[in-house]
Amino acid sequence: MCGIVGYVGSEPCARLLYEGLQRLEYRGYDSAGLAVHDGTEIHVLRAAGKIERLGRALAERPLPGTTGIGHTRWATHGRPNETNAHPHRVDGVALVHNGIIENHVELRRRLTAAGARIQSETDTELVAHLVAERMRGGLDLLAAVRAALAELRGAYALAVLARGEPGRIVVAKSGSPLVVGLAGDAAVCASDVPALLPWTRDVLALEDGEMAVLERASLRVYGPDGRAVDRPLRRIDWSPVMAEKAGFKHFMLKEIFEQPRAIEDTLRGRLDRAAGDVHGDEIGLDPALAQSVERVHLVACGTSHHAAMLGRWYIERLARVAANVELASEFRGRDPVVGPRDLVVAVSQSGETIDTLVAAREARERGAAVLGVVNVVDSAIARMADATFYTHAGPEIGVASTKCFTTQIVALLLFAIWLGRRRGTLPAARAAELVEGLARLPAQVHETLRATRQLVANLARRHADARDVLFLGRGPSYPVALEGALKLKEISYVHAEGYAAGEMKHGPIALVDASVPVFVVAPRDASYERVMSNLEEARARDGRVVAIVTEGDEAAARRCEAVVEVPACAEELSPVLTVLPLQLFAYFVADHKGTDVDQPRNLAKTVTVE
Ligand code: F6R
Repeated sequence: MCGIVGYVGSEPCARLLYEGLQRLEYRGYDSAGLAVHDGTEIHVLRAAGKIERLGRALAERPLPGTTGIGHTRWATHGRPNETNAHPHRVDGVALVHNGIIENHVELRRRLTAAGARIQSETDTELVAHLVAERMRGGLDLLAAVRAALAELRGAYALAVLARGEPGRIVVAKSGSPLVVGLAGDAAVCASDVPALLPWTRDVLALEDGEMAVLERASLRVYGPDGRAVDRPLRRIDWSPVMAEKAGFKHFMLKEIFEQPRAIEDTLRGRLDRAAGDVHGDEIGLDPALAQSVERVHLVACGTSHHAAMLGRWYIERLARVAANVELASEFRGRDPVVGPRDLVVAVSQSGETIDTLVAAREARERGAAVLGVVNVVDSAIARMADATFYTHAGPEIGVASTKCFTTQIVALLLFAIWLGRRRGTLPAARAAELVEGLARLPAQVHETLRATRQLVANLARRHADARDVLFLGRGPSYPVALEGALKLKEISYVHAEGYAAGEMKHGPIALVDASVPVFVVAPRDASYERVMSNLEEARARDGRVVAIVTEGDEAAARRCEAVVEVPACAEELSPVLTVLPLQLFAYFVADHKGTDVDQPRNLAKTVTVE
């Protein structure tokens, strides 16, 4: 997501902050800004686009002062332009924020009614208004930030300056990371360790609910109850490159392990657990369309196409609307029958994939409504679509998509629940079960990754020399099998095929012999018995079967060379869990082979050519 840096000391700090932001560039961003306190006034400089633009602006207009905060923003609410860039300044308060404020709609309403003049589309500016409001009421900065936090729901890491309190930064954290440290006579903070490394290796990661006050040569940490706490600094011995990857060897592995957080962000503010429903405001589609839509076409490419296949399954099953899914490049080429009673769902991590964009645009020209399911705010698909449902996975640096895939699945399931409830096809009790299952999902993802990492790494070593690998699944596990095969081929260059398990005997079974690992995705669901028959077919041909199963499936364990267990969950949620060991498998095979995991040959993160 976004990056934060802060400095209070004796050196002029604008350049230092700028260099700190440069060290966070790898995380991805679309605008950047600085606020520096010169002892009397706070000066703010912001620029959309690449950080060099901020650098040029700073060269033209140096910001004097030894206390400041900086930010690289990756848009989540509002376009990536200068007005939405951080820091946000309201009266004498300047503030930067990482995370997502869930109750931004209510807060905006309340502040507007109270006369606040809100300039940007961001949730962050609202927090600046809350702090400024409390300071006008007589509170000092620390107390004002604490009081403002009491009104927030969601995730945040914040760093705040106040005109009346030069030489001080107040920071707070809940849900989004924030580290603080001492560097000579300076106190510093950042969202990520790499930004701090040239200044200091002695840092402290704040816990949720903690706040800190940074002053020259002084760092005070406060617990959730407001009392000062004594927390020792910890010495970081990572190299700068390791630090960028938070200690993981590759961005892809880091992003695989970020999935619990990414899914939490996709769900944030969207589950109505009390009503057992999904909040529809952010989907932005007219609820009347939910009633009138006659057909849904999901269009996408690559990994996003696999998520879209699950989207079709959810939409037909929960909302009982006829749905088809198609590779965007094929859809646009075949003069499809689409019209005003159709909804086209364009699924794209980048929001820029040309085939998906053109397929959706052409359908829109024929009168269909377009919903984008997109990760990058204000990307081409988001701008073209009638409505966009953001996945909020945060920037994905590894070319092979992992967290963007699982968050697309979650977003599509949220959409299908919303649609099913509005159409009256999804009973309240079933919706409530799914909503509760979704709420549990981040913890289950975390647990699956923790419990399977070593086992899958061993499996990868054992199978790293295989020439061909098969992946099989039925129903919701079929797209997972396709995704397992795609991940393996794109980063390890091993030939892999994903198949619907029922298709085995119509051809691919001819490939199976004792040299072929066969991954069977077989959670306990409606297809389980039939998948087990397919598993036996592979076994009977000496295939080396590895099954991804629901925990406690001893029968499967007896039949396979190895099993990888995932927690029990609703059938709709199982793809998010069963794909995790397959992502890890692809990663560990590639790492074993020494390929360029994060930038595999011939591939690009964003495909803007046809
Ligand atoms: C595979 C992968 C690609 C993308 C595809 C579509 O790991 O990342 O297959 O899924 O190029 O990209 P988006 O989702 O940006 O439209």
